[in-house]
Amino acid sequence: MRMKRLKTKHIAVTVLITMVLQITLAAFFGMFSVELRNTVNIAFATLLLLTLILILFRELQSGLKRHRKELNKELNIVYRQIEAYQALNSLVKFSFPPVGTRGWAASPDFLYEIAKNILSAKPQVILEASSGLSTIVAASCLRQIGGGKVISLEHDEKYAENTQKLIKESGLQDYAEIVYAPLTPSNINDEIWLWYDYKRMQLDASVDMFIVDGPPRRTQKLARYPALPLMFADIRNNGLVLLDDGNRDDERIIATRWAKEYSCNLRYLDLEKGAFALQITK
Ligand SMILES: C[S@@+](CC[C@H](N)C(=O)[O-])C[C@H]1O[C@@H](n2cnc3c(N)ncnc32)[C@H](O)[C@@H]1O
Repeated sequence: MRMKRLKTKHIAVTVLITMVLQITLAAFFGMFSVELRNTVNIAFATLLLLTLILILFRELQSGLKRHRKELNKELNIVYRQIEAYQALNSLVKFSFPPVGTRGWAASPDFLYEIAKNILSAKPQVILEASSGLSTIVAASCLRQIGGGKVISLEHDEKYAENTQKLIKESGLQDYAEIVYAPLTPSNINDEIWLWYDYKRMQLDASVDMFIVDGPPRRTQKLARYPALPLMFADIRNNGLVLLDDGNRDDERIIATRWAKEYSCNLRYLDLEKGAFALQITK
């Protein structure tokens, strides 16, 4: 915007100066022959044209520099995700390599974080808010360590079916369960919040790990806030909560509120979309 204004200002000033000069000199050269006046006019037109070309060239140059910087930044992000994807694939024994990461799905670096935590801490019960590739990664890790279950709450029937299909294709039925749980109103400290209808799931033991990647933010302001107030009682002491999308304002507010309200240790993870790790202490 600033560049645009600068460019218009430059051009306007150049045209104005040239016109004033031309009128002054035309009046002066009016006393001379038509040929001389024409030569002066052509010289000024050429000067004006050259100045405009120079201004446009410099604008183009600075625009290109800006784009190159943005492109380099994007390339670095993509490179880090390729690295994380490769690391994920060499760490986890998948039936099929996960396809369709990033965008709506979790990014490779967040999936890698999930895998590292499961393979080292060996949780038996993983609760998940929103299903998808993260469910496949978690269930594949559980199969690799020889036991455990990921229970994934999904509010959208279509995505519940999609993930269920992926689970079947990968032969992970023993390690993952999708619970279709539409968002329903819940009371938290006398305020009404939307959260998965979690009464539809059955938990036989405390939750060791809780992955929070839903519901989508369009559903309500601070859409994932209810996760801890409503599920805290089901999470065991020292359990780990991973909250994706930590670069977003809502998730920053949610994580800070959780850490304060539940006196838990909060760590920011510098990932593509940012994330928070919260260690539950009871
Ligand atoms: C951030 S996504 C969850 C992604 C999941 N954890 C994963 O790693 O694939 C949150 C929710 O958005 C919905 N969703 C997934 N893909 C979508 C898409 N392409 N368009 C609209 N909604 C989508 C699903 O209901 C999902 O539970």
